[in-house]
Amino acid sequence: MASEQPLFLKNLWYFAFHGSQIKRGKLVQKEILGERIVFGRDKEGHPFALKDNCPHRGVPLSAGWFDGDTIQCCYHGWKFNCSGTCTGIPALADDKFDVSKIKVYEYPCKEISNTIWVYIPQNKLKLEGAEERLPNLLIDADKKFLHVETVTMPTNIDHSVIGLIDPAHVTFVHQSWFWRSSKNLKLKEKNFVPDDLGFKMARHKPSSNSKGYSVLKGGTSTEINFQLPGNRFEHIQVGKNEIVSITTLTPINENETELNHIFYTTIGLAKLLWTPLKSLGKTFIGQDLGVFHKLREGLDTNPTLMLLGDPDTQAKWYYELKKSWHQSIEEKNEFVNPLQPQTLHWIT
Ligand code: FES
Ligand SMILES: [Fe+2]
Repeated sequence: MASEQPLFLKNLWYFAFHGSQIKRGKLVQKEILGERIVFGRDKEGHPFALKDNCPHRGVPLSAGWFDGDTIQCCYHGWKFNCSGTCTGIPALADDKFDVSKIKVYEYPCKEISNTIWVYIPQNKLKLEGAEERLPNLLIDADKKFLHVETVTMPTNIDHSVIGLIDPAHVTFVHQSWFWRSSKNLKLKEKNFVPDDLGFKMARHKPSSNSKGYSVLKGGTSTEINFQLPGNRFEHIQVGKNEIVSITTLTPINENETELNHIFYTTIGLAKLLWTPLKSLGKTFIGQDLGVFHKLREGLDTNPTLMLLGDPDTQAKWYYELKKSWHQSIEEKNEFVNPLQPQTLHWIT
């Protein structure tokens, strides 16, 4: 099942943090695609992302000091501004040396609707086109997402994505009295179309055997969109109101993937009920995490795997999309979405 192509997709934006996770005056280190990055906010409050190594002898800059303006390495005290330019070398007596020639690599980093994204380039010197690939978060930029949960999945990005877009596990992993039970199965028919860097399930009424959805009265419809590198966007229309629920997957390294869940709604009641809603979200993610720890045990013995039939077709599409993305980078061509519209059936 696993492919020979590289595991990580470059030249794409990855979810790094919910805005509330990066406070002013604090540095936070995070490994993304195996690269160690230090995040912070500059004086204006804009987030930045720098390679987390001092250019002098490689000590993590995140281990140093930060006054909200200048980062100082904890080893020999070299100073850097928030764009990574060196601004001072305390031990250097030669005052003619231009320290600003020394730069820490700065990753493109953007905050959108209270979420912080970082661009991981294939070639660190070539950033053209990065802005065009910023994800569409489905809400106006001045609106803010709430943070539901951040967890570390004990599997690589491929297994994590397949788990995210897998319809068949819902019956068995997300069984609960308030959501649905495995005794009440229905044949589902879903129409898919290719869309940008992925595919979307055409707008439809949510499943009638799910109690969770049935509480949302009044012309409810949902559209689910999957986009490379590993993000799932769900837009639910409830009368005039809307709900946007986004799950992002960010590879930490070859063995671990971070899952983040963010949420937005115009429904006033949902804001009042935020604490129980958030714990509902955490329960779902906890159920996935539970089965992923079992999956990890299974994968450690390196078994042969299979993708079978319509329930696993989205997983096959993911690999096809990935292949096309890698190809477009290698051949320096525009990405061409390789998928065709298709109707899938499954029982859940
Ligand atoms: S290693 Fe950072 S100042 Fe020397
Ligand atoms: Fe799940």
